Amino acid sequence: MKGLNKQDMLLLHPCCHNPTGVDLTQQQWDTLLKVIKQPELIPFMDIAYQGFGEDMESDAYAICKAVDMGLPVFVSNSFSKNLSLYGERVGGLSVVCPTADEAERVFGQLNFVVRRIYTSPPAQGGHVVDIVTNDDNLYQQWVSEVYSMRDRIKAMRLKLKSILEAELADLDYDFDYITRQNGMFSFTGLTTEQVERLQSEFGVYLVSDSRMCMASLNVKNVDYVAQAMAAVLKG
Ligand SMILES: Cc1ncc(COP(=O)(O)O)c(C=O)c1O
Repeated sequence: MKGLNKQDMLLLHPCCHNPTGVDLTQQQWDTLLKVIKQPELIPFMDIAYQGFGEDMESDAYAICKAVDMGLPVFVSNSFSKNLSLYGERVGGLSVVCPTADEAERVFGQLNFVVRRIYTSPPAQGGHVVDIVTNDDNLYQQWVSEVYSMRDRIKAMRLKLKSILEAELADLDYDFDYITRQNGMFSFTGLTTEQVERLQSEFGVYLVSDSRMCMASLNVKNVDYVAQAMAAVLKG
C-alpha cells in the first residue's frame, strides 16, 4: 500500500474479476481488507457479475465483510449482465458511511454529480429491477436463472478445458486455470500472434491481450473453438 494516502480509494472487483476471471478467496479478502483498514483507505467495490461466481451471497462476501469491519465502502452494482439489461443502463451506487452526518454530505455530493451528468435517467430498466427484486416469486425465479447462466458458463469452461487437455496431452500446458477462474472472462495466456491466428484462420475472436469471453461459448461452438485454440497452441 506504499504511495497511498489516507482516504485514497481502491477499486476492487468482489467477484468474477474482469478481465482475468481470477478471484480472491474469502481468506485473502479478510487479509486484504485488514491491510486497507489500517491506513484508512476506502474500498470501491465494483460488482457487475453477482451470482456468476459461486452464488449471490458468496459473491458479495468482500462487500459484507468490509461493512462488518466498519469500513466506509462504495459499491457499484450493475444489472447489465445478471438481469440481461445491457441496453437499459441499470445499476446502483451504494455508499456506506461511518456516520449519518457523513452520509448526508456524501448524498449531497452525489446529487450534485448526478444533476450535472444526467439528472433524470430513463426509468424503464429501473422499474424492471424494482418489480423483479421486490416480488418473492420473481426474485427466486431470477436468482435461479442467474444460476443457470453460471452453470452453463462453468460447463463450457469444463468442456473447453477437457478438449484442450485431450488435444495437447503431449505438450506441457496446464489448463486448470480455465475452471479455476470465474465469471464471463478468462485470460488465456495466448500471445498476440496466437490471438491473431485464431482470428484470421479460424474466425475466433479474443481481445488482443488474450482475454476470452467464456459466455460466448455454447454447445454448438465449443468444440470448434477448442480445436482452433489447440491448433494455434501446437504452433
Ligand atoms: C467490473 C465491471 N463493472 C462494470 C461494468 C460495466 O457495467 P455496465 O454495463 O452497468 O456499465 C463491467 C463490464 O461491462 C465490468 O466488468
